[in-house]
Amino acid sequence: MQLTTDPRAAARALAEGHLAALPTETVYGLGARADLPHAIARVYATKGRPADHPLIVHVRDAGAASAWTTDAPPYAHDLARAGWPGPMTLVLPRSPRAANFVTGGQDTVAVRVPSHPLMREVLDVLAGLVDDPDVGIAAPSANRFGHVSPTTAAHVTAELGSLLADADVVLDGGASSVGVESTIVDCTGPLPVLLRPGHVSADDVRRITRLELGASSDVRAPGTLASHYAPRAGVRLVASDGLEGLEGVDGYDASIGLLALDDVPTPPGLVRLSSPATADEYARVLYAALREADALLLGTVLAVPPPPEGIGAAVVDRLTRAAAGR
Ligand code: TXA
Ligand code: MG
Repeated sequence: MQLTTDPRAAARALAEGHLAALPTETVYGLGARADLPHAIARVYATKGRPADHPLIVHVRDAGAASAWTTDAPPYAHDLARAGWPGPMTLVLPRSPRAANFVTGGQDTVAVRVPSHPLMREVLDVLAGLVDDPDVGIAAPSANRFGHVSPTTAAHVTAELGSLLADADVVLDGGASSVGVESTIVDCTGPLPVLLRPGHVSADDVRRITRLELGASSDVRAPGTLASHYAPRAGVRLVASDGLEGLEGVDGYDASIGLLALDDVPTPPGLVRLSSPATADEYARVLYAALREADALLLGTVLAVPPPPEGIGAAVVDRLTRAAAGR
């Protein structure tokens, strides 16, 4: 495995059918060319991910997205115009380009135009190398299945380094600026359905599309399992007044970590993992804090969630899933 800051090295590895862990504004992805079945098979094997869990195809622009999809409704075009490049994924009926090995056998495909400058450069260079402006990089989050997503290159090398081959690349693009995975919108029905909350909020989708959100979807999104995004430590959601009278204990698996906005004081003996000032910062530090809890061998993480508006809703969603994970 080669650790680099050069997007061209990552593009070359991808062009040759190797894997590249890539920075995006949401989290790091484990990328492979979306048209190469053997490369995609390695993504699944490296993650330990079940083969029927579909991948997101990352492309350069909305034009390239339309090469992977068909029958996009007008509201999907509105979302693409307003939200791309950026932390939003659209699920649409697939075109013949999107093969079963990417879609998990479903008739839909998830597409996203990322905004991270290095990721965009990888896509541009790769498009030149393979002579295909619509080239796609399939990339799930670069973590073992069910675990916490990585937001730095160091998270990726710690978790997947020993599983990657010599010719694979990890591209270091700094810490992800959003910190939680993209908003996923199912665009296969008459109304948009929010499959996974993220930086683009439900209100944003309503405002952009001038539609109500559909309540249910026929689309299967396995990554939205109840138990996901889980560290080894047990995660528990608490209200800030639930911390009163609490005291920490020392010792393996007995120590308690705390994750809360900075106006919440730390009870005696608890290990303060992070004190974000805003919900945006909470999202940005969330996964690093959960990894830190495991590095410190904490038994429990108490999380006081931010208000569930905007990206706060995505933080509450991930904390709830992390809490269901053990
Ligand atoms: O921010 C992100 O979305 C990151 C970065 C790397 O782009 N990627 C990511 O990928 O979170 P992953 O594989 O960990 O999560 C992808 C989610 C899963 O919940 C999967 O079920 C859903 O996308 N998905 C993919 N294709 C789908 C499809 N055709 N229909 C419904 N859901 C789909
Ligand atoms: Mg994931």
